[in-house]
Amino acid sequence: MTYKILVTGGAGYIGSHTTLALLEAGYEVVVLDNLCNSSPESLLRVARICGKAPLFIQGDIRDHALLDELFISQRISAVLHFAGLKSVGESVRKPLDYYDNNVAGSVTLCQAMAHAGVFNLVFSSSATVYGEPTQMPIREDFPTGVPTNPYGRSKLMVEDLLQDLAKSDPRWSIALLRYFNPVGAHQSGLIGEDPNGLPNNLLPYVSQVAIGKLKQLSVFGADYPTLDGTGVRDYIHVQDLADGHLSALRTILQKTGVNIWNLGTGIGYSVLEMIRAFEQASGRAVPYKLVERRPGDIAECWADPTKAANELDWKAKRGLPEMMADTWRWQAANPQGYGR
Ligand code: NAD
Ligand code: WQD
Repeated sequence: MTYKILVTGGAGYIGSHTTLALLEAGYEVVVLDNLCNSSPESLLRVARICGKAPLFIQGDIRDHALLDELFISQRISAVLHFAGLKSVGESVRKPLDYYDNNVAGSVTLCQAMAHAGVFNLVFSSSATVYGEPTQMPIREDFPTGVPTNPYGRSKLMVEDLLQDLAKSDPRWSIALLRYFNPVGAHQSGLIGEDPNGLPNNLLPYVSQVAIGKLKQLSVFGADYPTLDGTGVRDYIHVQDLADGHLSALRTILQKTGVNIWNLGTGIGYSVLEMIRAFEQASGRAVPYKLVERRPGDIAECWADPTKAANELDWKAKRGLPEMMADTWRWQAANPQGYGR
């Protein structure tokens, strides 16, 4: 049987890589995206890579009528829910946009799913829901923390509402995937991350410095209690993340209830290690200066990926050199991203 999967936010960074992985694995895919942070070009490129295209519907997850119509016209088996806003700084300036898109949007989506009798959902959560854990590596049974910004709170609110939903109706089967730090791009160099304006995240910033679009990286804090004083994170290749979604999807199609899985590698790298690895992969210098800590940042954060390995039969396979080489290939071939 061929399953048809609805991918909300499927034109975006992680959604486009996962859409490609789904098509390659033989799923039919419907993408719903309002293109507020993406370009339809990403899906054209997906089709170029694999010779198959998803059905693309330009629209908003907050649009009740559109969702009802979509679920009537398409026989959907499961939803991979990526759509949402993701900039931490912007969430502080525009909290209502974040609660509206991320929380209200998820409520509308779940209402339409329940109405249509579709109860399988994979949600893009984030390691940010752990707040500032006192112990590393982070396991799924650690208590959720107090996220320091509206973006993080919106993710935790959606996790909580999905837990309540599953308690209210045993037909729901929900995966809460807590991503660590997604980086990299498809090895073809055709799809990748295309941030709007000045990048907030480390790797997009580093690659734009390497290509000469930005002058210098600011390293936020060199006085953390880490190996070299800079922040340590668990960077995971977006292709590994996409594979993790396919494993989670296969698993939730066979069970019910809520399952939480960390998607990380289990290895932490510092900002300075990342810079050196990127310089090596690209052959370009990445000038940087050490500056004050960024408010809200934590010293270190990496996953214990054992639960996903045991229950999903999934492990991140790609190491730092591949993450860097693929990021650079995408950046060098597409200096203006998708040219939005
Ligand atoms: P992205 O911005 O590239 O993709 C999100 C997509 O959703 C975009 O294409 C955007 O146009 C679309 N979208 C936003 N609001 C929408 C709405 N109301 N209706 C329809 N479409 C809408 O981001 P990404 O990095 O691919 O992240 C995907 C998901 O993963 C997000 O939910 C994000 O919060 C979560 N996440 C991302 C990271 C990360 O560092 N990239 C880490 C943890 C979790
Ligand atoms: C990584 C490291 C910075 C930029 C954020 C969100 C999180 C999740 C992933 C969505 C840190 C340092 C960064 C720069 C730097 N997103 N850095 N100079 O902060 O771990 O996580 O993205 O869910 O919720 O908070 O990722 O890439 O911003 O930072 O020194 O210009 O790089 O201080 O140590 P972060 P990041």
